[in-house]
Formats: sequence, structure tokens, C-alpha cells
Amino acid sequence: MLIISCGNSKKIAQAVARTLKVPYSPIHISDFPDGDLYLKFNVPVKGKTVVIIHSFQPHSNESLLRIIFAAETAKDLGAKKVILVAPYLAFLRQDARFHPGEAISSKIMAKHLSTCIDKIITIDGHLHRYQTLGALFSIPGKDLTANPLIADYIKKNIKNDLVIVGPDWESFQWAERIAKKISAPVTVFEKTRHTSRKVSVKMIKPISLKGKHVIIVDDIISTGHTVIQAAKLAYAQGAKEVSTIAVHGLFVENALQKLKKAKLKHIVTTNCIEHATNKIDVAPLLVEELKRGTIRFVSDFSFF
Ligand code: R5P
Repeated sequence: MLIISCGNSKKIAQAVARTLKVPYSPIHISDFPDGDLYLKFNVPVKGKTVVIIHSFQPHSNESLLRIIFAAETAKDLGAKKVILVAPYLAFLRQDARFHPGEAISSKIMAKHLSTCIDKIITIDGHLHRYQTLGALFSIPGKDLTANPLIADYIKKNIKNDLVIVGPDWESFQWAERIAKKISAPVTVFEKTRHTSRKVSVKMIKPISLKGKHVIIVDDIISTGHTVIQAAKLAYAQGAKEVSTIAVHGLFVENALQKLKKAKLKHIVTTNCIEHATNKIDVAPLLVEELKRGTIRFVSDFSFF
């Protein structure tokens, strides 16, 4: 096995390689003077299982192109298998044609990746409408979850009188599971998305937040507006403190500053996307999944 990365996720790729005791070699990526992508493997890949560990943030569009080029090149150079580990897989939120004429980006991304990789592994993919990776990709896929790690983090670090809140129905599945693990009350807000940068939330399952430490749990923090509106509502309902924990911290357009202004006590993310707010390490999930694949390979001669 050889682990590579294509610009993002270097730290987690190195950590996974170290634990699995396999080589890590970042590929060389640059642009030709006209802006065309240039990519080069620095070590031989012939006969190897090449594992690309690369989250699709920052630069989701560029990431897709780099991964396709890297996977195609690995195969061209004789790699036996190419596995993509994308702790954060982008394009999944555009899972329908919400307005006439729109691209269904998730389908296009999955179709192209399915032609050049042999397996995809991600963490808490935004599969709200699809349910499984199999509904999107024509190759084997594994959607891991950071829920138990988030529950452990809360147990160890935030001990006050807690209420777990999902800021919308999509996030409620995560919120509910985490709350169950730490035996905390849980509720969900209802979110209306007006535009990519404007949302409103309201309470639909009344629960007392008075004097509580509310933890808003979501899969993604992008512009931060979802969490900010949810925090405002929680404070308006009498919450003493509000914190947020997300799996994927994209923090676009100064989201972190805006969240701090909204008086979020703790802003915590996993290291699916490298960021200063990373406090929860998902590398062990990836190691376990890659080990499982390797053991099956040894026993039944098919990697998956
Ligand atoms: C949407 O369905 C997701 O679960 C997140 O709630 C959303 O992506 C957050 O986006 P933003 O931070 O821009 O409000």
C-alpha cells in the first residue's frame, strides 16, 4: 500500500500512514505557465494499492480535478487498485435540481470518480436524500461516522447541564445519536434556507433551554449562518451558553469570526478538514477501515 495526498489533508494522510506502517508520498502538483494542471508521482506505484487521502476543502473544484488526474495516472503507471479516502466529500449538498436548469453536482462528481477509483471512503457524507454512497457511486463505498468520537469529546470536555440541538432535520440523525450516547436531552429546530447565505430557524419540538448549555451539532459549518441563527434562537430561549460541534468545518467567508461574534462558547470540529478548531481526531476511523479492507484482501483475494 502507498498513501498519497494531492495538496489537502497532508497531516491526516501522514498520521494514517505512520499508524499503518506504510509509505506516504505526497504527489508533486503545480501549474504549467498557462494554468494547466501538472501532476507527478514521486515513487513507483506499479502493483501497489494507492490510497489517495484528500479532503475536498479548501478548493473543492480543483480537488476533484486533481483526484481524477492522480487516480488515472496511478492506474496508467500500473497501480493495482486506487482507493479514495475523502474525509470531507464535497458536492453532496447539491443532490437535486432545486431550480430548473441546475446541475445535480453530486451525481456528476460520483459518475466521474466511479470511472477512475475502485473504492471510496468518506466520513459523515451529506447523504440526506441518497441515504447511502451506493445510491450515487457505481463502486464500493463506505460512509464512516464521527458520532461516537463527538460523543466522547462532549463527555470528556463539556460537563455542564447539556441539551443537544440539531439545527435542521438533516442534522437531527447525528444529534439524536450523540445525545443518546451521552444520555442528554435532544431537540431539533426547523430551518428554512432562503439563499446560500440566508437561513432562518424556529423551534418545533419545544424543550426548555433555560439555563442550559446548548450544543448545536451539524455535519457541516460552511458560511456559519445555520449555527448562528440556531445560537440566536437558543439564547433567546434562555440558554446559558451555546457551543457548536461539526464534523466538517469549512468556515468560508469569515465564518469563524461571525460565529465568535454570535457568542459561541466552544467551536469544535473534527480534523476531516484541517483547521484551527480541530479537536477531534478521525484518523483512527480511517486506519480501522483501511485495515479491514486489507484483511479481506488477504483472505479472499478481492480487496473489497
Ligand atoms: C445543510 O443541510 C448542512 O447540514 C449544514 O446545515 C449546512 O451546510 C450549513 O451551511 P452554513 O454554515 O452555510 O449555514
